[in-house]
Amino acid sequence: MTEKAAQSSESDAGDRERHPLAMETLVSLCASRGFVYPASEIYGGIAGFWDYGPLGVELKNNLKARWWSRVVRERDDVVGIDSAIISHPRTWEASGHVEHFSDPMVDCRTCKRRFRADQIEGERCPEAPRQRAVVDCDLTEAREFNLMLRTELGASVDESTAAYLRPETCQPIFSGFKRVRESARQKVPFGIAQIGKAFRNEITPRNFTFRSREFEQAEMEFFCHPSEREQWFEHWRDERHRFHLELGVDPSLLRIRPHAEDELAHYARAADDIEFLFPFGWQEIEGIHDRGDWDLSRHTEYSGKELAITDEQSKERFTPMVIETSVGVDRTTLALLVAAHHEEEVGEGDKIETRTVMKLHPAIAPIKAAVLPLSKKLAEPAKAIQQDLRRHFNTFYDDAGNIGRRYRRQDEVGTPYCVTFDFESEGDGCVTIRDRDTMHQERIPTEGLARYLRDRLEEEL
Ligand code: GAP
Repeated sequence: MTEKAAQSSESDAGDRERHPLAMETLVSLCASRGFVYPASEIYGGIAGFWDYGPLGVELKNNLKARWWSRVVRERDDVVGIDSAIISHPRTWEASGHVEHFSDPMVDCRTCKRRFRADQIEGERCPEAPRQRAVVDCDLTEAREFNLMLRTELGASVDESTAAYLRPETCQPIFSGFKRVRESARQKVPFGIAQIGKAFRNEITPRNFTFRSREFEQAEMEFFCHPSEREQWFEHWRDERHRFHLELGVDPSLLRIRPHAEDELAHYARAADDIEFLFPFGWQEIEGIHDRGDWDLSRHTEYSGKELAITDEQSKERFTPMVIETSVGVDRTTLALLVAAHHEEEVGEGDKIETRTVMKLHPAIAPIKAAVLPLSKKLAEPAKAIQQDLRRHFNTFYDDAGNIGRRYRRQDEVGTPYCVTFDFESEGDGCVTIRDRDTMHQERIPTEGLARYLRDRLEEEL
């Protein structure tokens, strides 16, 4: 949770050198093409908050849909919920967040900036980077700083109640455990999943969307008998690792890192991180946690409502153990963008140029097919093709500029297929399909085009 070890691996310079991509290149492409850009940009932005543009929202929605399908829809033993963002304040006392959810922080007495005490090693002073390191600044003693974002409920300040914007999405899963188990008629072992916003008042949001103050989590809490916890931990760790691999991430960019005893979160008995090699080093994108009976026991204690269960056959009474999978949607989106970014030399002789291509897996690519008439005069039949295709998947229509430039624009946003309608198309009833990765072109009949593309897209799902 505190990402302590992940921080130390940020300095893993050898691995970092393997990454040809500079973060600035990606940040700039994301903004210019409408993936992600700073929230409140016209006011100079607001640290730790990001907006997803027309392509970014499609990408993120596709990732969430894929997660939901794999974790919930394709299984009999996991059900989904969508809970309120704000819970009863006692929830966060029970969960341990009021007491434990903090980072050590130091203030600079000169410039008044605040830093995470466990992250200042190797950092330069932002006021005078050439002159001194942060550790040489006039710093206060380290103090614990709670990361939960507070808000007030109620109309008048005097009578208002303090509440928190949830720092993790899973707590309502625990407090709603009995209701969901009974209404969904589930028996242990089974899981409850949800995707939603989480908020943390990070002291130093950084590395683009990697550490934000508002982000999305996709979490699944799997309830099992104490005798089965190791087996389910391994099951879920392997399932989740496979999920990332199936999205086409190069296996050498992913690793599983078990937590050392001293870095475990207050609720965890064991934890493995799934890490991705970002240009700024190996970092956690997902955590698999054995939370034991911490949450259900604590909610029983704080609410006075019994959350233990009785096994119907053995009549044994026990509090289920929880194996959690918790993935950051924004971090995974960022990892997928990093992994997809390629620059390649194309062409021959004196016509060699560099193309930027986002090799996003077709399942998550924001646009599945772009329809490109060779001339604006061919707009009508080309638009009719797009009308047909858009009923099946997200499409884009572009008739501006030369065809080579239009292909490049689609490469840059990761569109797997371009459909070109040319002057022969009306006569022979065929269009040209261009494959993003191989740039191979194939002529196929317009009749059945949607099925053809759908088959090819599904083959890769
Ligand atoms: N319920 C357990 C939990 O929240 P965590 O390791 O603190 O565990 C899980 O968070 C995932 O949420 C992380 O692996 C990461 O992907 C994402 N995450 C956590 N803090 C984040 C932040 N400040 N910005 C973006 N994503 C974050």
